[in-house]
Amino acid sequence: MSKNVIGAVVVCVLLGSLSLVVWALNNNKVVIGYNKGYVPDQPVNFPHDTHAGKYKIDCKYCHTGTEVSRHASVPSGNVCMNCHGPALVQNDSPEIQKVRDAFNNGRAIAWQKVNLLPDYVKFNHAPHIKAGKDCTVCHGPVAEMKKVVQHESLSMGFCVNCHRQPENNAPTNCSTCHY
Ligand code: HEC
Ligand code: HEC
Ligand code: HEC
Ligand code: HEC
Ligand code: HEC
Repeated sequence: MSKNVIGAVVVCVLLGSLSLVVWALNNNKVVIGYNKGYVPDQPVNFPHDTHAGKYKIDCKYCHTGTEVSRHASVPSGNVCMNCHGPALVQNDSPEIQKVRDAFNNGRAIAWQKVNLLPDYVKFNHAPHIKAGKDCTVCHGPVAEMKKVVQHESLSMGFCVNCHRQPENNAPTNCSTCHY
């Protein structure tokens, strides 16, 4: 093979990989740094500002797991139907119609995760809520948000800085948060 052909192949491969990298970055296939500020599109435009802000529905009415488990949990359709069932709140809204259609067909709504730690990190809501930490410390002013945003970096530094404060009396050895 002539040097020219080899050169052309090398250039093509380089350009190909470069465009792949650009594509991956633009399409969130590769995440650089942390996801602070992340706002995924949700299958239903669920407004926290209306529910938790204007109508002051308690966070724990929908996120029942926070006091007892790792997972705060996102409510299933029957919780929504307590208020959005037939002849109840805003029957004519197309967003509410999606919620009712899913419920009537036994389908779960595929909510997209906003805050997500790597699998190798142990995290549990319960001890934090028991220690009196408010949801806003880690999630920001959700009651004012139209769409939930990842409010903090959720980096190791974010966790450890708070654990280190003497008044928190929280452990900082590696096995606290890692398997
Ligand atoms: C000390 C920080 C902290 C506090 C306080 C906190 N959260 Fe979280 N929350 C997180 C982290 C970190 C995740 C991601 C967990 C994961 O990926 O496993 C999360 C995830 C969630 C989720 C997604 C579902 C799940 O459980 O993974 C919901 C809903 C949630 N939190 C609601 C709440 C509510 C409501 C409160 C207050 C009652 C609260 N959180 C308090 C850190 C916190
Ligand atoms: C305790 C009652 C209650 C529960 C439970 C409830 N909602 Fe609502 N929802 C309301 C009220 C009240 C409104 C606002 C109505 C208004 O201001 O016109 C509303 C508004 C909405 C809207 C905005 C509709 C629009 O077009 O503006 C959506 C979407 C919605 N709810 C989805 C849900 C989902 C999904 C769930 C379950 C996860 C849920 N709701 C649970 C009471 C509730
Ligand atoms: C009427 C039910 C309802 C109430 C009340 C409610 N939430 Fe939610 N929450 C949801 C639903 C449904 C989702 C999933 C869709 C989304 O992310 O917007 C969610 C998502 C979240 C998430 C993102 C979960 C993730 O994937 O990381 C956080 C954090 C959260 N809620 C915190 C709160 C806090 C804090 C309050 C009180 C100020 C609250 N929520 C009140 C229904 C509710
Ligand atoms: C705002 C302060 C604060 C932040 C931020 C925080 N924590 Fe905590 N954490 C605490 C407190 C307080 C406790 C409870 C200590 C006690 O009373 O046992 C705790 C307890 C824990 C425990 C249980 C420890 C045990 O074995 O009892 C784990 C695991 C944990 N945190 C992981 C994390 C992770 C992972 C993050 C970051 C995503 C995080 N924490 C962020 C304050 C915080
Ligand atoms: C309070 C919770 C907490 C404690 C204690 C903790 N970590 Fe972490 N660690 C995290 C979280 C959350 C992440 C994921 C976010 C990140 O990469 O910063 C992480 C990530 C890591 C990573 C991966 C970093 C990367 O960039 O991929 C390593 C390695 C690590 N921790 C080692 C340690 C060691 C060693 C200790 C003990 C000296 C320790 N951690 C103590 C919460 C903790």
